[in-house]
Amino acid sequence: MPNKRQILGDFYYKEAKREGYRSRSALKLKEIASNFKVIKPGDFIVDLGAAPGGWLQVERETVGDGGIVVGIDLSFIRPLPYDNVKLIRGDVEDPKVMEEAFKFSNKPFDVIVSDLAPKFSGVRDLDHARQIGLAMLAVKSAPKYLRKGGAMVIKVLMGPEFESFCRDVRRSFIQVRIFKPKASRDSSSETYLVCKGFIG
Ligand SMILES: C[S@@+](CC[C@H](N)C(=O)[O-])C[C@H]1O[C@@H](n2cnc3c(N)ncnc32)[C@H](O)[C@@H]1O
Repeated sequence: MPNKRQILGDFYYKEAKREGYRSRSALKLKEIASNFKVIKPGDFIVDLGAAPGGWLQVERETVGDGGIVVGIDLSFIRPLPYDNVKLIRGDVEDPKVMEEAFKFSNKPFDVIVSDLAPKFSGVRDLDHARQIGLAMLAVKSAPKYLRKGGAMVIKVLMGPEFESFCRDVRRSFIQVRIFKPKASRDSSSETYLVCKGFIG
């Protein structure tokens, strides 16, 4: 007999499929975007760890024809049928990859989102440390690539480094909210930092 968590997990999976999204994660960003209004029509967005592309679909829905969305991932992302959704297959740890993304527009990003996650080993603290390392890379890209006043959405796995990570992020933004979307499984240690008003 499935428990409540499994039933809910299954519900969001089916709901994402029903709405035509490539991942149930899309519903997490949809909820974040609707609650916090972090993405606006016409925005220039970079999506770090974008495969298979569920977040890209949600971002494109909001930015419309006037914005640009750039997705980066180690894995192949099946192209979306829009000219203004650009894809880069590469490692965010390689500085040339961010440079390439940046060149799609002549201005800094309005929003940087990161759903980056390493391949999980099953060792909770190790996975947490690796994931925080990736989230930190996203944050460190902000001074060079995010416009003043811009926003970030960052996935973080809870663990020993979580508080110090939040402290670092709070130094760079006027507002930082910690938010766990309904579509995120209770059993998952993931949560999202929604950051607005980049100080620069
Ligand atoms: C949870 S998935 C992202 C799901 C995506 N937001 C969606 O809605 O479809 C995390 C992604 O991070 C990517 N990733 C992990 N480390 C990376 C790195 N160093 N550079 C680029 N992508 C990376 C993985 O390949 C994986 O596709």
